[in-house]
Formats: sequence, C-alpha cells, structure tokens
Amino acid sequence: MNKITYFSAILIILVSCAEKENEYLPKYSYEQGEELSVGQLTTTILGANAFDQPIPNLSIIDNRLFFVGNSLFRQNWVSSPASTTARDGLGPTFNARSCSACHNKDGRGVPLQEGQNFSKGFLMRISTFGSNSNGAPKPIEFYGDQIQEHANIGVPYEAKVSVKFEYLKGEFNDGETYELRKPIYTISDEQFGSLQNILTSPRVGQQVIGLGFIDALSEQDLLANIDENDRDGDGISGKANYVWNVITRKHELGRFGWKANQPNLKQQVAGAFHGDMGLTSSLFPSENCPTTQQDCLNAVNGGSPEVTDDALKNVMIYATSLAVPIRRNYNNEKVLKGKHLFREMKCSSCHIESFTTRSYSFNSALENIKIRPFSDFLLHDMGDELADNRPDFFASGKEWRTQPLWGIGLIKEVNNHTFFLHDGRARNIEEAILWHGGEADKSKEAYKNLTKEDRTAVLAFINSL
Ligand code: HEC
Ligand code: HEC
Repeated sequence: MNKITYFSAILIILVSCAEKENEYLPKYSYEQGEELSVGQLTTTILGANAFDQPIPNLSIIDNRLFFVGNSLFRQNWVSSPASTTARDGLGPTFNARSCSACHNKDGRGVPLQEGQNFSKGFLMRISTFGSNSNGAPKPIEFYGDQIQEHANIGVPYEAKVSVKFEYLKGEFNDGETYELRKPIYTISDEQFGSLQNILTSPRVGQQVIGLGFIDALSEQDLLANIDENDRDGDGISGKANYVWNVITRKHELGRFGWKANQPNLKQQVAGAFHGDMGLTSSLFPSENCPTTQQDCLNAVNGGSPEVTDDALKNVMIYATSLAVPIRRNYNNEKVLKGKHLFREMKCSSCHIESFTTRSYSFNSALENIKIRPFSDFLLHDMGDELADNRPDFFASGKEWRTQPLWGIGLIKEVNNHTFFLHDGRARNIEEAILWHGGEADKSKEAYKNLTKEDRTAVLAFINSL
C-alpha cells in the first residue's frame, strides 16, 4: 500500500465511523436560541395578549409613554368639536375610529365577509392608471386613493364595498382534495361618481409586532437579498420597492405594508392616521378631502395638526417597543422536521429566517439584535391568482412583499380567526401556502407533493412561529 492509499483508507474508516455516530443524533436539529424571535427582547408572555407586550427593560419614562401610546392606539378618536381635545379630529371621512379597530390586540385584521359592507381591519385602496408626480398610484379625482366607507354626521361617506366568493378545487399529489375561495369585490353606492373600471387593491391589517426591529434593519442588509434578474436561476428574484418619503422628499427603500409601500414606521403610522382615520399630522398636514368633496372640506377640524408631534411620538414609542412572542414547541421533533422541509422547499428563500438590526436612532436598545422575522421584506411576483393588478410605486400588480411569519401561530388565539394573505382570502395556513404562485410556484408544488404527514409537519412548524 503506498502512502496515499493508506491515508485515504484511514480517512474512509474515520468518515464511516462519524456517519455511524450521526445515526444516534436526532435527525433534525434545534439551533441554539431559535425560539427567541428578537433575541433577549423576546416576550415570554403568550395567550390572547401575546402581541401587546412591550420589550423587556423599557426605561421608566418609555414605559409610561408606551402606555400613553397604547391608549392612543386602542381608544376611539372622536369628531370635532368634542369635549376631549386629546383624541378629536376624526374624519371627516374615515375607515375606523381607532388603530385597534383594525389591529385588534395588535393582531391581524378581519377580512370582509359576504353580506357585509365593513369589517374590522379591511380597506380598499383605489387608483386610476398611471402614477402621480411622486410615482405613487394616481388617485381618483373625486375620491383619492382609498375608499372611506364611514363619515362624520353631515358628511357623505364615499362608497361601500362588498364581497362574494368563488370556490376553486385542487388536489394534493396523494389524491386528497382541497378547496380555495377567491374573493370578488363589488363597489356600490358611490357618492361622487362612478368607481367602476378602476384599479383596486383589497388589504387587511397585519399584526403589528416587532416593528421597531424592522425599522432598524439596514438598507444594505435588505438589498443584499435582491436578485432582480434571477442570476442564481432558482426562479426567485426579490425586488426592492422605492417609495416616496414625505419628509426627505426623495424615493427611499419601502419596507412596510403589503407592497412595501411605506419607507419607515413613522410615515406608516402617520399615513394610517391620515388615510384610515382622517387625522392630520405634521407629515400629512392637509385633511384627507379631495377638492371636489365640499362637505368634507367645510367640516370642523380638530386643530392643525390633529395628531400633535407628541402624540405621534408616543404612538411611535408604543409601536417600536412592541416585542415578538417566544416560539412554542420549537424543539419538538415534528416541528424540527417541518423546519427542515420549509428549507428544502425553498420557502426560506423569501421567508428569510434571520437578520441583525443595525443602528437605530429612535431607540438604541433595538440595535445589534439577531431577529427571526421569516421575511426578506422584498417584492415577489406571486402569480396571477394573487394579483391585484394595481401597481404601487415600483411594485407591479402581481408583486407583494413577503409577509413576516413571526407570530403567525398565535393569531388564532389573539384574534379568534385564521384568515391570511393580503386580503384575508386564505382560511388557514395551508390555504395561504396553496395560493402561492409565480416565483413561489415551485415551493407550492413541492408542498403539494408532500405526504400528509410531512404537510402536517410543515404546518406544525409554521404554527410554532
Ligand atoms: C381601517 C383599518 C385600519 C386602521 C384604522 C389602521 N390600520 Fe394599520 N393597516 C391596515 C391595513 C389594511 C394595512 C396594510 C396596508 C397596506 O398594505 O398598504 C395596515 C398596515 C399597518 C402597518 C404596517 C404593518 C407591516 O407589517 O408592514 C402598521 C405599522 C400599521 N398599520 C399601524 C397602524 C396604526 C398606528 C394605526 C392607527 C393610527 C392604524 N394602523 C390604523 C388597516 C388599518
Ligand atoms: C417567492 C417568494 C416566496 C416563497 C418561495 C414563499 N413565500 Fe410565502 N409568502 C410570500 C409572499 C409575497 C406572501 C404574501 C402574499 C400575499 O399576501 O398575497 C407570502 C405569504 C405567506 C403566508 C401567509 C402569511 C400571512 O401572515 O398572511 C404563509 C403561511 C406562507 N407565505 C408560507 C410559505 C411557505 C410554507 C412556503 C414554502 C412552501 C412559502 N411561503 C414560500 C412569498 C413567498
């Protein structure tokens, strides 16, 4: 035996011994700390209040302001004139009276159901073809960019939206069948002229946990996952949205909303006050009344602005300090198998498991934390079936931002429902997966090809997030 063969023989023996050893290790492994979605700032409080917990160790002042912000988020705002000046100025037109009406217990909104004209957490964005001078969807002259189905007394609401479902059948590879429901919306009762043949985008409010951590991700880390021309050939691209920042008056990377249509948390929050509740702030100082809605323009306002900078700051302290709950059953064998399959099916190419936060001037406690949001916060073509066909800045009518999956398994307990995806069409997690198309088509097909046992493992894993 010459030296080389001698050494390779030894090597083969060593390798096969090591393989033997592995047989005794669990097949799917737990990774140290994987249950901590936002590191040491993860909350261990579970149950129906799992989403409204502050990060641990808030300073005494921030803790107090967290609760002030919480009440501004939770309580109803009222129309002016009113006996309270702290929470007045609602409307003239609006979708809901409080943030929590749509983000109940900081969780997921409820989609529109058949026979309803309103639901807690649903809204319809509208526009006409083309874009305005900032690149935003072009508003409809007599209505703006969102249907407000409510208004203060003496002011007309804009229109009503209703839904009907069409049922589609499908089959897993093992022969088991399933049924999906596709929403078809109707706009009626328009008060300012026709809203037929326009562009529409139905959306449901997401859980609002861990937002400060998303705000604290660096642009560079987010852009690192872009693969717009799919150079690695895996069929998954990932594209950034660039959206208008009303303060810097520049286009910036979008990161919040179902199409990553808001550049930062402050603008997202001020935009919600303005668009969803009719409340002005220093970011959006004019009432949300199209120039043709006279009663809206003439209505009494609640001061200028209606949401003071202090109030906005307190809501920001609240929103940035909301923690993320600890994962459950994370080292259970079935869940670990589900995690393995999730990776094998390339779900994790879009639902990216972890990031590390960088510098964050609003709250340095959120810096340098390893977070596990299961999102790349980028846009992906999700196919024709999920398309709203309404572009939003650089997002096409087929593109959506990967929704973070953290907290998803608790939505049932927090919100008493399991409606998922941007318009809440999926009635459970499995239906949400089955709606995936476009760049996620291969992953969806891989899921459909799994055995029933493996499908249950994937669902157990997602429910553990
Ligand atoms: C009428 C229902 C409604 C109301 C009221 C509402 N929201 Fe929302 N919220 C939504 C919807 C729908 C979205 C998704 C918007 C989109 O994709 O454009 C959303 C998105 C958000 C997001 C982004 C979440 C993410 O993961 O990107 C935040 C933060 C947020 N809302 C905070 C608030 C705050 C703060 C208030 C009160 C000032 C508020 N919302 C009021 C429905 C509502
Ligand atoms: C190409 C990127 C991509 C891939 C691959 C992908 N997803 Fe998604 N996922 C998304 C996007 C984008 C959304 C939001 C779509 C929408 O709301 O219309 C989403 C939404 C979801 C949701 C619903 C989230 C919620 O809170 O409403 C679940 C669950 C989910 N994905 C699981 C999976 C699983 C499991 C796989 C692998 C089988 C997978 N995804 C593969 C991009 C992807």
